[in-house]
Amino acid sequence: MTVLPYKDRELGKKEQVAYMFNNISKRYDFLNHFLSLGIDIYWRKQAIKLLKPKKPQVILDIATGTGDFAIAAMKLNPEKIIGVDISEGMLEVGRKKMKKLELDSTIDLQLGDSEKLLFEDNKFDAVIVSFGVRNFADLKKGLSDMWRVLKPGGTAVILEFSKPKSFPFKQIYNFYFKYILPIIGRLISKDQAAYTYLPESVKAFPEGDDFLNIFKSVGFKDSQCKPLTFGISSIYIGQK
Ligand SMILES: C[S@@+](CC[C@H](N)C(=O)[O-])C[C@H]1O[C@@H](n2cnc3c(N)ncnc32)[C@H](O)[C@@H]1O
Repeated sequence: MTVLPYKDRELGKKEQVAYMFNNISKRYDFLNHFLSLGIDIYWRKQAIKLLKPKKPQVILDIATGTGDFAIAAMKLNPEKIIGVDISEGMLEVGRKKMKKLELDSTIDLQLGDSEKLLFEDNKFDAVIVSFGVRNFADLKKGLSDMWRVLKPGGTAVILEFSKPKSFPFKQIYNFYFKYILPIIGRLISKDQAAYTYLPESVKAFPEGDDFLNIFKSVGFKDSQCKPLTFGISSIYIGQK
């Protein structure tokens, strides 16, 4: 079943997700770090570390949002990072950030849809996505296009929420995600749905082996899942 942010609206998932992120874009960075107690920064760093041996020069960051994963990828000293997102609001916040950090000559943020990437086949050394794939309207199509634009031998790194399985982390996480996070998120973002959609979309997302099966089915090889912080999030890595 498709999880939608605004259940009473006629729009499809992609339009609703773009609307939602436009709506929360100004408060997104603050809420991200506040609600995760800053752990999201550590998760992005861990995911980027996996690309170090590959020394990728041209990187595509899909669902880049305000560009935090692209900024983390600067540790790899790439020539170019292109970030794409369907939310112009998120990109606008990101572009201001890149200017301020003087990264705008290396990191280029563009409007773009993961399911219809406007790049030729075999272009990128690495394709990265953090907390994006869960929001795709068509996950398989998004992963297929990611594979298409990756060079043979290139690497895809995907960071996404998952669910802790063991006591007491599972119970603490469920309570926080279900009761605390939606209230704080709603109060600060002023969006009625975004932080209720977050736990619902995580719950519905095919994680672990279920994700790896879809990942492999579009062509990725040597794929692996690496859980982080009691399984609250996971890194998926695969090669073309
Ligand atoms: C939770 S944010 C993650 C942003 C950033 N990667 C980060 O780690 O903070 C998810 C982003 O995915 C974008 N998104 C959702 N579906 C997309 C699609 N089909 N193509 C491109 N971007 C998409 C949203 O607009 C949003 O900016």
